[in-house]
Amino acid sequence: MKEKLKDGLLGMEREEMPGKETLKALISVKDEEISGALMAMADEKRRKHYGKKVYLRGLIEFSNFCIRNCKYCGIRGKNTNADRYRLSKDEIIECCKRGYEAGYRTFVLQSGEDRYYDDQIMVVIIEAIKTNFPDAAVTLSIGEKSEESYRAYYEAGADRYLLRHETASPELYDEVHEGMHLESRLECLDRLKKIGYQIGAGFMVGLPGQTDDDLAEDLLLLTKMQPHMIGIGPFIPHSDTPFRHFTKGDLDKTVKMLALARLMVPKALIPATTALGTADSHGRELGLMAGANVLMPNLSPTEVRGKYVLYDNKLCTGEESASEKESIRKRIESAGYELDMSRGDHIEWRKKQ
Ligand code: 5AD
Repeated sequence: MKEKLKDGLLGMEREEMPGKETLKALISVKDEEISGALMAMADEKRRKHYGKKVYLRGLIEFSNFCIRNCKYCGIRGKNTNADRYRLSKDEIIECCKRGYEAGYRTFVLQSGEDRYYDDQIMVVIIEAIKTNFPDAAVTLSIGEKSEESYRAYYEAGADRYLLRHETASPELYDEVHEGMHLESRLECLDRLKKIGYQIGAGFMVGLPGQTDDDLAEDLLLLTKMQPHMIGIGPFIPHSDTPFRHFTKGDLDKTVKMLALARLMVPKALIPATTALGTADSHGRELGLMAGANVLMPNLSPTEVRGKYVLYDNKLCTGEESASEKESIRKRIESAGYELDMSRGDHIEWRKKQ
């Protein structure tokens, strides 16, 4: 059995993509030697394409209102305990200004699906950021929209869009996302890519009901889609959601999935996520050592930081905050990498004019 898996690893080293059965076996086996070999191979791959660089993105969580009811998420519309807030355009610009002065050249605008920010308002916000900070990239992470909306944001200057597919299993997807369908999600990603955005897909590890077969499908979907960015983190329960009694996703398995994602989509930009850092105090370093090359510190105003709670105990003070750049730098260097404050675009992307 193990010999067969080692053959699979050797194949991957030669850039032969493993089939589903090999992937499933690699995902389910609990073996330090195999996990270590996967991490080392992933690290070599990231160094080949991106060197030791770790790019920083300033994350601005500008609204936690949401019309969706994802069963895992703390800001789901039906959670009446969530303390809701919205940032104005001026408040968002103020966050960017602080970030820009600290050297940030990517701003990620993330929110729940909040209809308050219609296309016109979003366009004004994006244009204001681009006018004030023309050399910074704007990434949006605001959910499912029409082609027309995606186009309007792109024309206003948005460069990238994060929309995790969450899980590649259509049954599991429909089960955990009340009233939503995987097909529409994938259509959105397709639209975004066609318009010209750098797109980010990704999934959670350890969702209630998720199998290793599903995780193998997540990797195969990524290989097919070839997203520019891939976000992977462990599921972590939130006490005001239907999934409050489930256990969090396994750290080692999440790290292994990161390594496999790096091997399957070698040139992707992959963050060591906040969820990984929340699951374990060394989670993000492990992520970096398994092929991740992006960190997304929080640039939101301190007063609202504790309110964007997707899962329990989400890190929201200290080192993941963008103002703590020196401690972020130390963390990156202690893992053997170097901080890079440039825009950090995908190596094969140019904006369509
Ligand atoms: N645990 C882990 N990740 C979560 N997300 C939302 N809720 C949780 C949770 N309970 C992730 C989703 C979403 C991203 C912004 O945060 O994958 O796409």
